[in-house]
Amino acid sequence: MKSLFIKNYLICPLQFNKSSGKVEDTLTKQSKSKITFKNQTYNIVDKVIDMRFSEDREYTSYDNILNNWSIPNFKNDSKIFKESINAAGINESDIKDKVILIAGVGGGTELNLILNLKPKFVVALDFSNFLISLSKKEYYKNLPVLFIMGDLCNIPFKTESFDYIFSGGIIQMTRTPELAHRNLWRVLKKKGYLNYSHIYLENLHNRRITSDRLFNNLHNKNVKYAKTFLRIYCFIYFILVKTRILKLINRKSWRLPFLIELSGNVNAKEYYTSAIDYYLPRYRHMIKEEDVFDWFVKCGGGAKRTPKGFISQK
Ligand SMILES: C[S@@+](CC[C@H](N)C(=O)[O-])C[C@H]1O[C@@H](n2cnc3c(N)ncnc32)[C@H](O)[C@@H]1O
Repeated sequence: MKSLFIKNYLICPLQFNKSSGKVEDTLTKQSKSKITFKNQTYNIVDKVIDMRFSEDREYTSYDNILNNWSIPNFKNDSKIFKESINAAGINESDIKDKVILIAGVGGGTELNLILNLKPKFVVALDFSNFLISLSKKEYYKNLPVLFIMGDLCNIPFKTESFDYIFSGGIIQMTRTPELAHRNLWRVLKKKGYLNYSHIYLENLHNRRITSDRLFNNLHNKNVKYAKTFLRIYCFIYFILVKTRILKLINRKSWRLPFLIELSGNVNAKEYYTSAIDYYLPRYRHMIKEEDVFDWFVKCGGGAKRTPKGFISQK
């Protein structure tokens, strides 16, 4: 299934881009280490095809974030599993036996969720080199999943390739969210579903995060420095919460340079893992809810809210 899917649906993203979206060049040759189109060759790194443009191959900002995250459980607890499915507005029968695109994989939360719903085949697409480490996990060995490094702003698949696309916490991290959306809509089959969860919507909490992010400018600083800075502040924050001193401080006149209160009652390490996700990525666009609806309208569709996001049928 994997090699058949690659042969039939993978296209050369550069050719497609250069030719204003009109040429879908399928591959001409494939070896263990290379994949060749008419005018371009891409590498296969540790069995993962790398369809990113050359300037993106060395490093992406998430390489330094995801390796600090703990990978979520592969086998979901059935109660949490049901809750997550409902929160994401997923109808299980829309996934079973269908061809799915996980558009942005990260640590694999949504990928693992979808794999539990018995899809026919899943493509796990992400921009980060971390995908290589994730793909080596024993859990995926006998599952119908193909890991591919690529860019949502230039998806290397033919028009109308997927029955269902799920993207959780990704679109705001791409360099151009609306372009990513148009790409996703293009590769979705007619009557297929596009489901977004955890979009970084414009609200008071996210506005404060964004202003702190721009003020501290950690995403443009040396990664080692930025991580040490966040580690120290997370530790201070943790101590202030645990000793209840934070409650006594007048937060209007003084506050720490980031707002992670919504992480709940967690330990210092968890404050740190969410802080690096907010402050280190190259991009973190804040998106207005009405703009998301507008993206769908401009593509000729309409979207509905789910508890954690948006869904639309093409
Ligand atoms: C916040 S993390 C995803 C979190 C994910 N829901 C999880 O549970 O791990 C954001 C992900 O978006 C990916 N990403 C950022 N820009 C991308 C792009 N242009 N194309 C594909 N993936 C992208 C990053 O590599 C990273 O893995």
